[in-house]
Amino acid sequence: MSQEAAGVTAVVVLAAGGGTRMKSRRSKLLHELCGRSMLSYAITAATSLEPDHLVVVVGHEREQVSAHLAEIAPYAVQAVQEPQLGTGHAVRVGLDALDELPAEVVVTYGDVPLLTGETLSGLVAEHRAAANAVTVLTSVVDVPTGYGRVVREHGRVSRVVEEKDASDDERDIREINSGIYVFDAETLRDGLAELRTDNAQGEMYLTDIIAYANGLGRTVGAHLIDDPWQTQGVNDRVQLAALSRELNRRILERWMRDGVTVMDPDTTWVADTVDLAEDVTLLPNTILRGATSVSRGATIGPDVMLTDVEVGEDAHVVACHATLAVIGDGAEVGPFSYLRPGTRLGVKGKVGAFVEAKNAVIGDGAKVPHLTYCGDAEVGEGANIGAGTIFANYDGVTKSRTTVGKASFVGSNSVLVAPVTIADGAYVAAGSAITEDVGPGELAIARSRQRNIEGWVASRRPGSKTHQAADEALGTRKGEQE
Ligand code: UD1
Ligand code: CA
Repeated sequence: MSQEAAGVTAVVVLAAGGGTRMKSRRSKLLHELCGRSMLSYAITAATSLEPDHLVVVVGHEREQVSAHLAEIAPYAVQAVQEPQLGTGHAVRVGLDALDELPAEVVVTYGDVPLLTGETLSGLVAEHRAAANAVTVLTSVVDVPTGYGRVVREHGRVSRVVEEKDASDDERDIREINSGIYVFDAETLRDGLAELRTDNAQGEMYLTDIIAYANGLGRTVGAHLIDDPWQTQGVNDRVQLAALSRELNRRILERWMRDGVTVMDPDTTWVADTVDLAEDVTLLPNTILRGATSVSRGATIGPDVMLTDVEVGEDAHVVACHATLAVIGDGAEVGPFSYLRPGTRLGVKGKVGAFVEAKNAVIGDGAKVPHLTYCGDAEVGEGANIGAGTIFANYDGVTKSRTTVGKASFVGSNSVLVAPVTIADGAYVAAGSAITEDVGPGELAIARSRQRNIEGWVASRRPGSKTHQAADEALGTRKGEQE
């Protein structure tokens, strides 16, 4: 039989339990690690086995979980377990949702986010190679508290005992049941039909299938892995933080092996959804989220948070918060820049210190270097926006756009009152309040002309320090003239 024909026929993901220790209005399974929900990691690992059937058993907070599943895995069959009578009962509900009995059933949990598809494949491969009826994924941990312990006789797995049902000797066992298994489906189905609830928790334990299979004389195996993180569940926010940090460490390690420099992995957070190219450098305090992508040679950080941002080749981004923005090749951003949705900075463009941009297309080589609000704007190629320019886009009722043409120059401390268009090749004098369009080649000056009143200090501030200084200066000037 080919590998294909013997393919995994069903994966059942258990996700019906409550998450009371999270103390959250949100389902535990929807809490995120490195930018993705806990449940989505389980779905990704399960899907990588390319099963014929993917069943997710839902129960607690099922409206939230179902809606999320419909988004991330519309192909999954949802089975409702109500009430939740234990892991054995959950799997029974999962199997009942299928109209045929599959050949093999992989059982995994929705709250074990570091488990990988490779580990599941290894488990399945071992199960097949040994022709087992049950193969359980186990690991050896320093502190086994809370887990079911794997009891072996003459080296073979004989049963799993829950902590609450265990003897003192059994509690000393450090090989733990991850709760992840592959079952021969018939053995599983028949065993589930016989599960009892005469245990410390009054639940139907899935773990009892192991003793059941042994009782039938079928072989039970364990797939022992040396990476306990992969078997760890999340029950509270302390574990959520610990697993997030470890997952982030793994993500960064993968990027470093792919040619990304990470100066300080402890303060760099890269979501699982981010894409980085070779020769990208990430400096301390960098957080990359969502669909952010960074092209070859770009340097990000220190102190940057990018969400859904596309960064071009060789760009530099320093001390910046940006969301839904595009930063062109060779562009410079920061320090202290805020790019809001709809900002597109062209090739070799610049957005500098204390600049906020929103819904603004800033052309190739254009510069917005200092202290500017650039909202609802189009800034042409090679234009220069002087320090302190404000694009006044909002009159209290509607928002309007401002266009500054190619190679135009806006003097410092101007206000461009939208809607207004400054043509290609135009100048705006510093300190102008521009309310009317400016044509090509024109200089617009929109401020009152300067007036100097001679002798004002002597008549209005007689005897002051200023008066004294003025007299000295006037004397010197007179002396110079003589
Ligand atoms: C279970 C195992 C234990 C193992 C541990 C690993 C049993 C009896 N025990 O214990 O040996 O070491 O997992 O983490 O199986 N769930 C349902 N419906 C239910 C009950 C649970 O869907 O009725 C789901 C939960 O959402 C969770 C998973 O099954 O994802 C495990 O349930 P939990 O109650 O955490 O099991 P443990 O007592 O930790
Ligand atoms: Ca648990």
